[in-house]
Amino acid sequence: MDFVTCTLVLLLTCASVHALSLLLSRIIAKPNYNLPPGPSPIPIIGNLLELGEKPHKSLAKLAKIHGPLMSLKLGQITTIVISSATMAKEVLQTNDQFLSNRNVPQSVSVLNHDHYSLAFLPISPLWKELRKICNTQLFSHKSLDSSQDVRCKKMQQFLNDIHQSSQIGEAIDIGTSVFKTTINFLSNTIFSMDLISSNGAAGEFKDLVTDITKLAGTPNVADFFPLLKMLDPQGIKRRQTKNVRKILDIFEDLINQRLKIREGTGVYNNKDMLDAMLNISKENEFMDKNIIQRLSHDLFVAGTDTTTSTLEWAMTELIRNPEIMKKAKKELEQIIGRGVPVEESNISKLPYLEATIKETLRLHPPVPFLLPRKAERDVEICGYSIPKDAQILVNVWTICRDPTLWENPSLFSPERFLGSEIEFKGRNFELVPFGGGRRICPGLQLANRMLMLMLGSLVNSFDWELVDGMKFEDINMDDKFGITLQKAQPLRIVPLKLK
Ligand code: HEM
Repeated sequence: MDFVTCTLVLLLTCASVHALSLLLSRIIAKPNYNLPPGPSPIPIIGNLLELGEKPHKSLAKLAKIHGPLMSLKLGQITTIVISSATMAKEVLQTNDQFLSNRNVPQSVSVLNHDHYSLAFLPISPLWKELRKICNTQLFSHKSLDSSQDVRCKKMQQFLNDIHQSSQIGEAIDIGTSVFKTTINFLSNTIFSMDLISSNGAAGEFKDLVTDITKLAGTPNVADFFPLLKMLDPQGIKRRQTKNVRKILDIFEDLINQRLKIREGTGVYNNKDMLDAMLNISKENEFMDKNIIQRLSHDLFVAGTDTTTSTLEWAMTELIRNPEIMKKAKKELEQIIGRGVPVEESNISKLPYLEATIKETLRLHPPVPFLLPRKAERDVEICGYSIPKDAQILVNVWTICRDPTLWENPSLFSPERFLGSEIEFKGRNFELVPFGGGRRICPGLQLANRMLMLMLGSLVNSFDWELVDGMKFEDINMDDKFGITLQKAQPLRIVPLKLK
């Protein structure tokens, strides 16, 4: 449902909310905030109608009028929109300490998930413990190195499937194939097993992850009018509760099976992330079965769509820019040999491929507003007030296309990163697709490894052709806004044996 439809639904259901909020605002006197400039809100719905179907683009346009620090009212939610690298630094670095809580959508609060979720807990002792474990154990270079062989094996299976398609001249839907492979990369890194069979039907697990992500990205009237939460007008809470219950049950079974094996053999090795979490649970009482289930949920939901959409855009840009494809192939041929799949140990030797991924994340940041932050208390930025509980959206999409920061910003040009010091690790605020500060994506290193592995191997192992004699100029580059910014039209391409 787009924002216009949402708004019509809520116009019908919200007259009572308006009356009630008027009453409340008279009872609770609010302090006089000097909010940043922004468009005037209209009664009840505020600025919701201005979002349209592509909020990242609509808010970029509004920021041109009102400035890089802008305030809006989305229904009842005071929202601050950040649209420049300088302002992003204010949020992600200077005032990170007080702007790092999360706004929790209703789709996330089902089964009290927000009480245990790494991605949605406020800054708290539990969140700090979880982050520490991610940084020092689950996603450390050492543990990612020790699980690289399983990802390499999965990559080989992925390439075998594509090889079969190349023999019969069959087109591949890159997004669907990469989505399955990414789930199996993650499931092998976490549980040492496939959660999707590589051939044929992807099965329930894929549908669950897809539906959870889709519902989390669907605009929900109840998020803009908290008083409607009880009514669940779009049925999002009901459907998400079922999905999350099912996925938690799957993880519980996997944990129980592993516990049985460990008890039986008495071996507590460090085979994968599940072993690491179970080992931690022996010393640290907070890491119980429930937390392991919740963390596994977050890793799959946060890691799958983001990685898939980046890979699909990267392949699209390479197919559309044959000169860049040629350069990427040439580097791979020189460094690892023609037709050889990339291994994680090769990654640091492939600067052009790395620049291609950076450029993809610049032009197509998968999480265009980061995960919405929430102010823990009143904060002042450039003389303006960010009130306690305000939602903060960092419009990475527009920052990454800012002509004052990027020459020829809409051009896809990996060359701009060659010899440049700009990284996406949260210190260069003109390129923050993984966020920054204490909430920066903990899966960044794993995402980078998976992307380099898949993109490098796809480019180096096959030549690629568009379907039905389509020309690369005709590729539809429209995006579709959701929890991730995906290609509106899936990329379908035919793999060809290398000549
Ligand atoms: C291209 C791939 C990815 C992108 C672009 C991406 C981007 C992001 C962004 C923008 C945030 C919010 C940061 C902020 O608020 O400042 C985030 C958070 C998070 N990401 Fe990623 N991510 C990717 C892959 C992954 C992977 C592979 C995993 C794990 C397997 C992962 C796990 C998480 C988690 C758990 C959080 C929440 C952290 C917290 O709130 O403390 N992400 N990611």
